[in-house]
Amino acid sequence: MAEEERLSTGSARPGQSGERADEADANPVEAGARAICGSEELSERGDGVRFEVDREGETLPAFAIRHEGRVRAYLNRCGHIAMELDWNHGKFFDAGGEYLICSTHGALYAPDSGACRGGPCRGAKLAALDVFESGGKVYLKTEG
Ligand code: FES
Repeated sequence: MAEEERLSTGSARPGQSGERADEADANPVEAGARAICGSEELSERGDGVRFEVDREGETLPAFAIRHEGRVRAYLNRCGHIAMELDWNHGKFFDAGGEYLICSTHGALYAPDSGACRGGPCRGAKLAALDVFESGGKVYLKTEG
């Protein structure tokens, strides 16, 4: 009975007992990663999800989008001037859903690489972040 109570409260830690191993397999989280949103929050060429990252002692704005089925994430900082791209929270794609666009002067970036494709960002690139999906969530690698 005590075992049932422990399982029903979810207090067991994956790997501590055989009963919880299936949950650990269903939602494996790599060491050195943190969840930033659910996979379903990112639709193909739809609104992005904003989050923050700690880099070199600073907390910086970042965002994730889905493009051709894959989640991509970048610092939310234009290569032209260090300003956030989205004209409204989460609006990163241009009207055609082809490029990521900076709302300030219209710099265009390739969603799959962050490379400048037009506008005043010439030669610049968005700073890519390492993300992956697992168990219905999107994770940001924070180490390694
Ligand atoms: S700040 Fe982004 S295009 Fe100028």
